[in-house]
Amino acid sequence: MIEEILGLKEEKNAIILAHNYQRPEIQDIADFVGDSFALSRQAALTDADVILFCGVDFMAESAAILSPEKTVLIPDTDAKCPMAAMITREALIEMKRRHPGAGVVCYVNTSAPVKAESDICCTSANAVEVVGSLDCDEVIFVPDRNLALYAARFTEKTIIPWDGYCPTHHQILPQDIMDAREKYPGAGVLVHPECRPEVIDLADGVQSTDGMIRHVRASRLDEFIIGTESGMIHRLEREFPEKFFYAVSDYTICPAMKMVTIPEVVRSLENLEYVVSIPDAVQERAKRALDRMLQVR
Ligand code: 13P
Ligand code: SF4
Repeated sequence: MIEEILGLKEEKNAIILAHNYQRPEIQDIADFVGDSFALSRQAALTDADVILFCGVDFMAESAAILSPEKTVLIPDTDAKCPMAAMITREALIEMKRRHPGAGVVCYVNTSAPVKAESDICCTSANAVEVVGSLDCDEVIFVPDRNLALYAARFTEKTIIPWDGYCPTHHQILPQDIMDAREKYPGAGVLVHPECRPEVIDLADGVQSTDGMIRHVRASRLDEFIIGTESGMIHRLEREFPEKFFYAVSDYTICPAMKMVTIPEVVRSLENLEYVVSIPDAVQERAKRALDRMLQVR
């Protein structure tokens, strides 16, 4: 099947982008593996005709928004981020009505219509810088409450969070960090900013998934407890075969991220399905929010 994928990629002039949480075998066949920010940038830059996106709905949508002239495929339409589904365009419009002077930052984990209603998008890699780039005292931040509270630590602005959360990260508890530290004394603890504030307080580093790679590269430590989705362990082990990585608990699995499989990738490339399409009116406005983010960082 891997040979079939290689042949189909050439035939269709396709590139395979995969998120750091994808299954190991998907990461291994991808042309590019990264965090949401790096994948958005890659989608905007590639000259392939077809982008096969191994990730969840909002990531493939972002690729389609940034590269409207390309065919963007998602192999499994059930791969939907539950946090992105926690805010609707209508709820955001109502929030904007209640806070007329506020700027609006949407996490990239949102639908295209929510992006279209936002001033600027952000990812976990640049949320602090994006909030800082806005020329206003109040900022609506949707949908992740934990990321909003994390960004609020670095600004004087008033952050108005939406009450969304990532089920995979939010269920990591302070006790998990304490237990892991006891089991692996001497290991550094890295967590994702989608974690609860009280978990973030116990970590040695708080980063996006690619940020964790940069942290490990710069660190003299050989062992790390990883407080994010389990796919990240494979990515880190590939990058740093001489170091050791431990999941913070047995439950850090995002079901949506595990949906794409190798047979689905073959079928998707063969039949050019499922094409991600964004209505024109939404596409233009959502692209503004994403382009603005890419200019910040
Ligand atoms: P990153 O952008 O840090 O890879 O995170 C994406 C995500 O979905 C986190 O749960
Ligand atoms: Fe969404 Fe959380 Fe899964 Fe990321 S890990 S895709 S935020 S549910």
